Amino acid sequence: MKRLALVTGGTRGIGAAISQQLKEAGYSVAAIYQGNDKVAEAFQKKTGLSIYKWDVSNFKQCQKGIATITNNHGPIDILVNNAGITRDGVLHKMAYDQWIDVIQTNLTSCFNMCRQVIESMRERGFGRIINISSINGQKGQFGQTNYSAAKAGIIGLTKALAQESAIKGITVNAIAPGYINTEMVQKIPEPVLTQITNQIPIGRLGSSEEVARAVVFLASDEAGFITGTTLTLNGGQYFV
Ligand code: CAA
Repeated sequence: MKRLALVTGGTRGIGAAISQQLKEAGYSVAAIYQGNDKVAEAFQKKTGLSIYKWDVSNFKQCQKGIATITNNHGPIDILVNNAGITRDGVLHKMAYDQWIDVIQTNLTSCFNMCRQVIESMRERGFGRIINISSINGQKGQFGQTNYSAAKAGIIGLTKALAQESAIKGITVNAIAPGYINTEMVQKIPEPVLTQITNQIPIGRLGSSEEVARAVVFLASDEAGFITGTTLTLNGGQYFV
């Protein structure tokens, strides 16, 4: 039977490329999204993948959503926590909502989702959890105290959960992409984006497919000895 992979934020941007490449690698894939119905439906038509809609920052919705997916498709083997938002602004102008929305959607969602799948993975003695962090969780970014904190938190969660899960055949890793050519990055004001691109030694933005490739690798049996690590993928912009 095919292994089942779940991708949060899986119908757009980096997540869509991850869903697609996992499918091509032979997995059953369920993509979770929250906001954009039109894009999600078009993605579903194009790929034939199952899509589910809920808010991953909400624990109860995660509980209900995972129960439905398990019921429909069986237990989850691979979880990719990719869903994320930005609410950029300098801290001295940041509203509480800007802070909490980013922490809840980008970081608490990882707890919410891991918590639903981990017991079953432990019982079955296999699992792959891949958390999408960011270069800005590693180096910090002007205007992103909220996002940098959430993405750094993901790296801590990854290392701790990797230790708790290793003996049960579950690997937990993070990927820290740099600036990838997605709608999120295209929203950065032009002069700021040019300044950022100039700091990438490879001389271009990354592609979603390049991130997806790394996810497929970490999901594979061959990556079974890799756990607790953060794979950086940033065109040389920042070395950890
Ligand atoms: N370092 C130091 N100073 C900086 C700076 C930087 N990186 N960027 C701006 N400043 C300075 C400006 O020069 C300006 O100084 P003056 O007032 O002396 O002219 C001051 O800070 C205020 O700058 P802004 O006018 O730009 O301030 P703002 O409040 O209008 O906007 C901002 C602030 C919204 C944070 C804007 O700078 C911005 O959008 N920055 C980009 C943040 C970013 O990189 N986001 C990444 C989104 S993509 C993503 O997150 C995906 C991923 O994982 C990589």
